[in-house]
Amino acid sequence: MKKRVVIVGSGLAGSFLALLLQDDCMVTVLTKGKINESNSMLAQGGIAAVMSENDSFASHIQDTLAAGSFHNNVDVVEAVVKKGPQILRELINLGLCFDQDESGKFLYGMEGAHSQRRILHSGGDQTGRVITSFVQGKWQNVEIIEDAYVVDLLKRDEKACGLTCGLIYLDQKECWQKILADKIIIATGGIGGLFPYTSNDKTLAGDGLALAMRAGAQAKDLEFIQFHPTILSVNSRCCGLVSEAVRGDGARLVNDLGEYFMEEVHPLGNLAARDIVSQEVYQQTLNGQKVFLDIAGVQNFAEHFPTIDQNLKSYGFKIEEDHLIPIQPGAHFFMGGIKINLSGATSIPHLYAIGEIACSGIHGANRLASNSLLEILVFAKQIAMDIKVKDFSLQDKIIEETEEIEIIPNLPAMQELHKRAWEALGIVRKTNKMKDFLVWLERFSVVEKIPRNWSKKEIECYNLCQIACDITKMALARKKSLGAHYVL
Ligand code: SIN
Repeated sequence: MKKRVVIVGSGLAGSFLALLLQDDCMVTVLTKGKINESNSMLAQGGIAAVMSENDSFASHIQDTLAAGSFHNNVDVVEAVVKKGPQILRELINLGLCFDQDESGKFLYGMEGAHSQRRILHSGGDQTGRVITSFVQGKWQNVEIIEDAYVVDLLKRDEKACGLTCGLIYLDQKECWQKILADKIIIATGGIGGLFPYTSNDKTLAGDGLALAMRAGAQAKDLEFIQFHPTILSVNSRCCGLVSEAVRGDGARLVNDLGEYFMEEVHPLGNLAARDIVSQEVYQQTLNGQKVFLDIAGVQNFAEHFPTIDQNLKSYGFKIEEDHLIPIQPGAHFFMGGIKINLSGATSIPHLYAIGEIACSGIHGANRLASNSLLEILVFAKQIAMDIKVKDFSLQDKIIEETEEIEIIPNLPAMQELHKRAWEALGIVRKTNKMKDFLVWLERFSVVEKIPRNWSKKEIECYNLCQIACDITKMALARKKSLGAHYVL
């Protein structure tokens, strides 16, 4: 009898894992929206990997550690950097294409804090979409349930400290459903939905972290949230990423006084690590300056960055005329998350986590650009291996959750939560703001089980309050600035 594996999330992490397991297990992928809605689909930069003879593992490892302020788990960094290229070669052998020159050599891109050109990209700035769609296109035995909003894990035995054996979700019609499994993998992506300014897909709201923590899973490094410095700004709204690869191809940050300010701030200038650039852009805006990305020096912009070009056109920008893209920083990537080991296992037996919602320790205090897709490929392999070798079934031992809810808390207005989260947990953090936020949040964080009469919107809001609370506690506990956690 094949094991039943349920994967929550359909970005590259969930999709690649489903592909690796489909022949050996009964695999179901539940996804909150549609299978093509994820941060992976929006990943523009590419995938960092040591594939060229001019590059070395030692150099990629060093860049990853330096960007992460040496808060990284060195064993994980080494494993990902060394194992990643082989998995990429396997995918290339299966037919995955990366951009090449006329002689068939890969065109390596450059991004912040890399000491080498080592970013493989596909379709210019469409790498995430190309890889994720490629992997999904190879599915043969994968059951997909779209519009499934996973709410809580079911436990095997309340006394046996949370052995996973199923989960409950709200289906498309907002009816409660239950699904049993031998193994569950949380691959729900990041937490951009906590903030008013973000590059993330609209479905990303930290749900996987909230439900795992409600089930008792350990979390790690929640205070480290990466802000991307260059998101297209239209009427102060974030309207799509402008990839760091654009700066890798010669774009420069400039303010409305005409000052190319990054060149004064850091020896790596416009390609300094993302935390440093975001903090400087933020400072410029606090000083009343508008900030732009000057793309005058970028050759063949529309050809190399078709997604960004299309997006600019859709907002009416005629970028070939003035070369200035208005930008602002926003929440981009979550370095923290559900704590996992090298096999992707969480602290709850039979529960795994992968991708942005997991914290393997590879990224430390600030992720090196384009390392996340590589991490996903390596951890999907690790988890698939772990699941294949372990042999047991828990499905028949499920304990029904009771539906009794003692306290039904009020929920805040989402706009108010966004505003307060940005003030307290944004690019520059102040202790008093974080303390005030925590006091405010604690009014909302009292349930352990989600009331069955809540809608998806209410549960999402509650989940965001819950994770905001945990993030703020960890941020307050880290008194000194480190990487993306910048305290004044
Ligand atoms: C970007 O293209 O700037 C983002 C890539 C990444 O987050 O690694």
